[in-house]
Amino acid sequence: MKNIQGWRIVGFSALVIGTMIAVIWFVHGIDEQGMRMAIRATARTSCILFLCAFVASALRRVWSNSFSTWLLQNRRYLGLSFAVSHTYHAIAWTGLWFVTSGAYPKFDPLGILGYLFIAAMTVTSFQRPAALLGQRAWKVLHTVGMYYFWLAFTVEFSMRISHSVLIYLPLVILLVLAMVLRVITPRRQRKLAS
Ligand code: HEM
Repeated sequence: MKNIQGWRIVGFSALVIGTMIAVIWFVHGIDEQGMRMAIRATARTSCILFLCAFVASALRRVWSNSFSTWLLQNRRYLGLSFAVSHTYHAIAWTGLWFVTSGAYPKFDPLGILGYLFIAAMTVTSFQRPAALLGQRAWKVLHTVGMYYFWLAFTVEFSMRISHSVLIYLPLVILLVLAMVLRVITPRRQRKLAS
């Protein structure tokens, strides 16, 4: 894992997820079914990458080892990899629009808001735009964005539990555990400090 650091994580994610989509389209065809499979697959890779960035600092506080240190050191690149994965999600739902002649997907304002967060957070992950935004506004943007993504994934996956408990329940459990970890760790620190 030590060899995969920084931008390499982003490149590696782009390659692996790109290959995954190519395999899906090769096996299922470039039709509605293939597009929907790619949408679902990229939503799941996005969720895993998002969770890595979301829990990195909380995990490091409660469990200090080489893995949690790696997560924390590469949090920015895991976040950028999430943005890459969700760009593939956008390519797949644009593809769905083409193969269904505009019938799907239906307009999704909350999803579009999610992409606005992704764009703003990606741009401000670079030093100059971050400096222009200012420390306080940067913190607000990135905190609100992260909780927005958490909510979006939790709602989307929870709504689908009845379709497949085996796939969606573990994802929802992971999301809930991640939130619990983030909520309890600062409290624990405060207790230790007092
Ligand atoms: C940040 C914003 C977004 C997030 C976090 C998100 C996340 C998700 C998640 C978690 C799923 C469920 C995947 C599964 O069943 O495993 C999903 C499905 C889907 N998403 Fe997104 N999404 C976002 C934006 C959008 C937008 C803007 C569109 C297009 C308007 C879109 C189109 C779809 C479609 C069509 C599906 C259903 C695919 C199917 O089951 O056939 N998403 N998305």
